[in-house]
Amino acid sequence: MRRAIASNARESTIGDIIDQWSHRFETEGIPEPVESIEHIVAHVIGTKKTLDVLNMKNDRLSANQIKKLELLCECRLSRMPVQYIIGEWDFRDITVKLAPPIFIPRPETEILVDFVLKRLNLSQAESSEILEIGCGSGAISLALAHACKKIKCTTIDANQHACDLTIANRNTLNLTDQIVVLHATLKSDATIEVTSTFNGAGNVDLNSKQFDFVVSNPPYVPTKKIFELEPEIKIYEDLKALDGGDDGLKIIKPLLRYAAKVLKPGGRLFLEVDPTHPKYIKFFTNKYSDLKLHHEHTYKDFCNNDRFVEVLKIN
Ligand SMILES: C[S@@+](CC[C@H](N)C(=O)[O-])C[C@H]1O[C@@H](n2cnc3c(N)ncnc32)[C@H](O)[C@@H]1O
Repeated sequence: MRRAIASNARESTIGDIIDQWSHRFETEGIPEPVESIEHIVAHVIGTKKTLDVLNMKNDRLSANQIKKLELLCECRLSRMPVQYIIGEWDFRDITVKLAPPIFIPRPETEILVDFVLKRLNLSQAESSEILEIGCGSGAISLALAHACKKIKCTTIDANQHACDLTIANRNTLNLTDQIVVLHATLKSDATIEVTSTFNGAGNVDLNSKQFDFVVSNPPYVPTKKIFELEPEIKIYEDLKALDGGDDGLKIIKPLLRYAAKVLKPGGRLFLEVDPTHPKYIKFFTNKYSDLKLHHEHTYKDFCNNDRFVEVLKIN
């Protein structure tokens, strides 16, 4: 089959190539076979819009384009996510560069950004200080800063490569004035250890600075569920970005304690979590009342799962 697709490719139209490869992907059990080949073709012809591809169905690719396409399709057959194959993805109204194994931003996380922006719009403050814990590609902080010029974000990640990617995306999006990136780790004792700062970040003490908002999509998948994930995730993404330990709360517990220290009174913590977590977070904030945290809202994702939590720091 592989040779048949390759030898026919010179004579084939883009429409034929889409049909042949989507069929091949489908028979080999590749998820989203049509979308996969459409994104790959779009990338090869230099557009981001799969609509352009559909409008060019009768055109033919050059020999070089066919060579590139076949290489990328081989990657897809090895279950590499399309986002890594084409090296970028849209998140809300920005495009971020992506590289394995840094976590691919998921569409539901756009909902988390919407809730933070809603609160920012309600806030009368001239400017707001936001801290993001676990920035990955930078999608959350960059989307927030892009949408709201009155905020400054400090964004950290325990993975140096995630910080590098966030910096590259920040620079491309011209958000250098609004975003500080730190290679730093939230530890189990609810303190943050800064490993390195990058150009001009200076000496930020993240254990004493106060923030209006803390936002995070932390690793929250319970370890036993990691084995059930798709090969795209298990093979290519950094599992430390997903694995939240036995109950999925390994990072969330210190994060709640840390947020209690650094949030200004009236400040808010926004979290993406496993659907089993909102109940626990409510229990935790009630039990440790000295932290002065109040579970305000649980919000649902596209599949009607309890996915996002908003916690208020009480005066
Ligand atoms: C689920 S990913 C989220 C990435 C990005 N915010 C997004 O939504 O696309 C979690 C991120 O947290 C980082 N991380 C994991 N444990 C951490 C810790 N203890 N301190 C700081 N960052 C951590 C991982 O390296 C990873 O980039």
